[in-house]
Amino acid sequence: MIRLCVASVMLAGPIGATAATIATGDLAPIQSGLDYHSFANIDQFRVTRLELDLRVDSTNKVVYGAVGLAIKRLDPSATELVLDTRDLDITDVTEKAQDVLGATAKTETTWVSRPFHLERKDPILGQALVIDLPPSKRATEFIRVEYQTSPNASGLQWLTAKQAGGHKPFMYTESEAIGARSWIPLQDTPGVRVTYKATIHTDNDVRAVMSAQNDPKAKRNGEYTFVMPEAVPSYLIALAVGDLEFKETGPRTGVYAQKSMLKQAAAEFADTESMIQAAEKLFGPYRWDRYDILVMPASFPEGGMENPRLSFITPTVIAGDKSLVSVIAHELAHSWSGNLVSNATWRDLWLNEGFTDYLESRIMKAVYGERREMMELALGLQSLRKNLAELKPEDQVLAIDLRNRNPDEVFTEVPYEKGRLFLIYLDAKFGHDRFDEFLRSYFEHFSFKSITTEEFLKYLQDNLLDRFPGTVSRDAVKAWVYGPGIPPDAVLPTTDAFAIVDDARGAWLDGKTPAKNIDTHEWVAQQWLQFLNHMPATLTTSQMVELDQAFGFTHSANAEIEHSWLLLVIRNHYQPGNVRLETYLETVGRGKLILPLYKEMMKTPAGAVQAKRVFALARPVYHPTVQAAVDAIVTPAGDSENSDE
Ligand code: BES
Ligand code: ZN
Repeated sequence: MIRLCVASVMLAGPIGATAATIATGDLAPIQSGLDYHSFANIDQFRVTRLELDLRVDSTNKVVYGAVGLAIKRLDPSATELVLDTRDLDITDVTEKAQDVLGATAKTETTWVSRPFHLERKDPILGQALVIDLPPSKRATEFIRVEYQTSPNASGLQWLTAKQAGGHKPFMYTESEAIGARSWIPLQDTPGVRVTYKATIHTDNDVRAVMSAQNDPKAKRNGEYTFVMPEAVPSYLIALAVGDLEFKETGPRTGVYAQKSMLKQAAAEFADTESMIQAAEKLFGPYRWDRYDILVMPASFPEGGMENPRLSFITPTVIAGDKSLVSVIAHELAHSWSGNLVSNATWRDLWLNEGFTDYLESRIMKAVYGERREMMELALGLQSLRKNLAELKPEDQVLAIDLRNRNPDEVFTEVPYEKGRLFLIYLDAKFGHDRFDEFLRSYFEHFSFKSITTEEFLKYLQDNLLDRFPGTVSRDAVKAWVYGPGIPPDAVLPTTDAFAIVDDARGAWLDGKTPAKNIDTHEWVAQQWLQFLNHMPATLTTSQMVELDQAFGFTHSANAEIEHSWLLLVIRNHYQPGNVRLETYLETVGRGKLILPLYKEMMKTPAGAVQAKRVFALARPVYHPTVQAAVDAIVTPAGDSENSDE
């Protein structure tokens, strides 16, 4: 997971008691539902609808234009509307004013300028945009903000044609967690949901797509319009522009990709419709109409991003054998957990990611069988244990205190894998039938809402714990949600598929079986990962050569297997793997795959030199958040080049 190491300083600005400005001393108890990562005064005003009119200028690496915001006024006496921004140049703010003659006059409206200013910049949260709005009894305000983004906007990545691995430049947004404010001034908190419309202007020879209704048949003419009729949190607003083509994979599924990847991608993701059907059977109807996949350039920082109707997916999951498609199951599962029912603040992220990991494994089991599901669960548990060993106890809880920290720090294995184990535990205790019914009713009950951990716990208490008393205690639930580590009564995955692999590795290490004699013809990717991930700390050069000759790891087509092998290449100074290591680092930008490689390289002086040299070359293809994360790894503490201030 990507972890950033930028310290935050909270600024006590004169903008009133918005969540982000409340003093957060150690002693103040955390307030459930209060978003400490937004300046927006959402108790006074709520944005309900956005209308974007933006031009994507890839020559100058800026997006500019305007956003119209429809805003419900909750407090008639409020005089300031506070929006979140980061590195935005705000050029004008206007308000749509009713004719002063009042309701009897013609409904003609005019736009009038409103005074506004930007507060001082917080290194993590950006800047509050404060707009003066006189007190009013009006129920709805319409505000229009004209603005331009900065070339180093934290939520945008600009790639040249070459960097994108195609023929045209590529631009995309990554709004989770708080990137949206770097390309739209808005209430950037997952507690607020908006519908949106957008008109996007681009060069004539590229296509724009959004997390909205897309028209695969839209002509490439430089102007694209979108509608997102369902209310979504800001972190799910997404846009990508590039040399994109479309291929259908089912009645309501398809892939967008640059031409060179299109066919392979469509083949790899051919089971998407089966996954949707499996998920609908388990969790209730798919509420988003279409489900398309956008294949990103290799520098995309995540495995996938669940942008509604259009998941953004790293090409590193295209292995040729569908072995890594659990990422698709995961992003699809977010259509229920995360997009339909969303976390209200980043403290509640486990409601998104833990639930989604759990749903993902249910989908994988339904489509690919229990053996595959169990192997993936077992690998997940291994990652969790490794991660827990590095985390402070207070960061091992599901509902985590992120005050004064970058919300990206919440993306450890804890909300994902511990969250999943919690649901597996409930599932085991109550049984599939009861638990599935509970989940379906949960998704229905909170559909298109953003909820806190505590709201979930109340619903769980009322609809499961109290309905079937004596099954799971309140204290047991508390231990999962607010306590560190893995509770002792967890139900852990077991698989015999790994025993064969562990035996084979053991026999080879003992010199009993030469590598080429190991019977691997039925091994799947997850078994290869198990085989490589548990190699001893050091191997001899001849052992590395033997493995490489027998299994061709240096040229694996599977990015995950390659990753595990490259860790061994670094650790054992295996020269023949070095060229591949460097090309891998210069093309792949997925944090999960490259950060551990940089960390491993930094363990020796020669490796550190290599890491810095390769990073200097690779840096321009990495997403800003990954650049910052690699910086933190290769630039020792105190040597602070990584401040953007
Ligand atoms: N929502 C995340 C992606 C994300 C993470 C965006 C952190 C911004 C910050 C997505 O659903 C996710 O969890 N992706 C995983 C997939 C995996 C768990 C199958 C990933 O990217 O590795
Ligand atoms: Zn996820």
